[in-house]
Amino acid sequence: MKYSIQNHYQNLANKYDDFWSSSPDFIRFLGQNIISSLQLVPRDILVDLGCGTGIFSKAILSQLSLDNPIICVDPSDKMLAKVPNNDQYKPLVKDAVEFAHESGQYDKILIKEMIHHIEDKEKLLEGLFQRLNLGGILLLILLPPTIEYPLFTEALKTYEAVQPNYNDLVAIFEKIGFKTTVNFVDYPVSIAKEKYFEMVENRYMSLLSRFDDQQLQQGLMEMREKYHEKSTLEFCDRFVFMLGNKS
Ligand SMILES: C[S@@+](CC[C@H](N)C(=O)[O-])C[C@H]1O[C@@H](n2cnc3c(N)ncnc32)[C@H](O)[C@@H]1O
Repeated sequence: MKYSIQNHYQNLANKYDDFWSSSPDFIRFLGQNIISSLQLVPRDILVDLGCGTGIFSKAILSQLSLDNPIICVDPSDKMLAKVPNNDQYKPLVKDAVEFAHESGQYDKILIKEMIHHIEDKEKLLEGLFQRLNLGGILLLILLPPTIEYPLFTEALKTYEAVQPNYNDLVAIFEKIGFKTTVNFVDYPVSIAKEKYFEMVENRYMSLLSRFDDQQLQQGLMEMREKYHEKSTLEFCDRFVFMLGNKS
């Protein structure tokens, strides 16, 4: 199987929300943290860049009303098709870098677990700095350089080789002119082993698209051996919350 991000998300769109459907507390918890980090207020014009199916836009709107629709941007039309079809959301099929270099002014921008798909991160972030109103905030959420996920060894090794390091992003933020703050947000995950294995089998992370069917099955065998005594998997899901203020 050829590794392609576009195909990965087009194929995943129908399953994506199911992965998280049994974790409403997790979604609510991150939603709360996003609202407070972005200091969201009703008059804000918010962009959810690389929004996917809009899980976190929905989490925001379940806790706070906004006067304007959330601008939900994603190049995968199939992921975007899952965003609710009502006037609280304005879906836009578009690449983030392109969006960042088109006209438009916004108060708050959320990027959650999308930055690893962007080759020219500086170009994206420079554009977004221009798009923000004075006093605006960019919240970039990504995973740290190492993770505790109960994945197979090769997957964790590949993750560490390809995941952008937030320290490099801090340097870019500061070069561009963002006043930058980094926080870590931890969530203790407890998930039924079979549910997690099914997510891995369905390549719930784009990282897993780097492995062909045979490699994935081998990896799952390794996980089955390692966790054969467990029915529930427990680990800490740590997120890096990078805040860029345009002051
Ligand atoms: C891991 S998902 C995260 C979705 C959502 N932010 C969330 O946390 O549920 C990554 C998303 O980034 C999108 N994406 C990939 N390349 C992109 C690009 N160049 N510009 C904008 N979004 C992109 C994918 O289509 C996918 O929906």
